Amino acid sequence: MPETRFPEESQSRTPLQDSCGILTPSALHYERHHSGVPAIDPAAHRLLIHGLVDRPIIFTVEDIRRLPSISRIYFLECSGNTVWADHAGPTAQRSHGLASCSEWTGVPLSILLSEAGVQPRARWILAEGADACKMQRSLPIEKAMDDILVAWGQNGEALRPEQGYPLRLVVPGWEGNVSVKWLRRIEAVDQPYMTRDETARYTDLMPDGKARIFTFVMDAKSIITCPSGGQSVKPGFCEITGLAWSGRGRIERVEISVDGGKTWIDAALQEPRLDKSFTRFRLPWKWDGSEVELQSRCADNTGSVQPSWDALVAVRGVHSDYHNNAIKAWKISADGRVTSA
Ligand code: CO
Repeated sequence: MPETRFPEESQSRTPLQDSCGILTPSALHYERHHSGVPAIDPAAHRLLIHGLVDRPIIFTVEDIRRLPSISRIYFLECSGNTVWADHAGPTAQRSHGLASCSEWTGVPLSILLSEAGVQPRARWILAEGADACKMQRSLPIEKAMDDILVAWGQNGEALRPEQGYPLRLVVPGWEGNVSVKWLRRIEAVDQPYMTRDETARYTDLMPDGKARIFTFVMDAKSIITCPSGGQSVKPGFCEITGLAWSGRGRIERVEISVDGGKTWIDAALQEPRLDKSFTRFRLPWKWDGSEVELQSRCADNTGSVQPSWDALVAVRGVHSDYHNNAIKAWKISADGRVTSA
C-alpha cells in the first residue's frame, strides 16, 4: 500500500542520509499538511490579531515585513517523526526524515501581541491557518511572548508554499504541528481551545489508557546519517556522522557505540551548536569488516538524555504514535550493507 492513500493528507521526508552540515535546503525540508497546500495571493492575505487585546489589528504581509525582523536557526520536527511503526525504518529518511533545520526570518510574535495590547487575562493564544482544514492549535502565552516567530523567510528566500507562504509561525523546539502554516489569525484567549488537532490527534496514549495532551516539547534525539540504512561501506576508514537536536536547548554531548550499546565513545560536536537547532557530530572510525551495530545517544544542556527503545517503551507503552526519541541502531553486515538493527 502506498504511504499516503489521500493526496490531500500528505507528507514528504528529508533525505537525512544525504545531508551535510546542519541546514536543510528549503526544497528538501519535510512537508506535512492536513488538507493540501493552499495557493495564497500575498497581496490579499491578512493576519488578524484579536480576542483579549486592547487593539485588534489586521496586518498585511507588507505590514509584517516592514517591522524589525530577526533570523534564527531552528530545527522543526513533526511529533509523528519516527512513529512506533517507523522505528525500524530501513533508511534515515524513512525513520527520521520528518525533521529538518532552517534559518528562519520573521518578526517576534511578542512584538505583534504587544502592539495589539494583549491583556493579562490572555493565558493562551489560538493560532489558525488559511488552509482548507483551518488548522488550529492553542499555545500558552508564556511561549508566545518568548521565542515564537511570525516568519516570512526561510534560508535566504521567501517561504515556499509548502512551508506556509506567505506567513507561518515558527515555534522553536516544539512539535512541528504548532508552527501553524499559512497563518491568518491569532486570538488571545483565556484557556486552550481543545481543537481537533490537540484532542483527536497529537496526543500520546499511555499504557494505562489515558492520553497525555499538550506535549509540545521535542526531546533530545539523534541519528547516525552515515553510515545508515540503504548505504554500504568498505573496510578501512569510515567517518561516522549524524545529527542531534533537542527542543529543550543546546546539544552538549553525543556518544557513539559500535558494539550494540555495550561501550560508548564521545563524538566531536561541530560548531556552531545552537539552541533548538541541528548539531552535526562526527567520529573517525575504522571498520574491520566484521558485523557491527552502531548507535548514537545525545544529551542536552538541561541534562535530558536520549533513551533506549526499551526504556522509552517501559514508560510509554506501544500504543503511542508521537514523541518517539529513542536511540536508533544500524547494523553493518559482513558484506558492508547497512540495515536497521
Ligand atoms: Co505532542
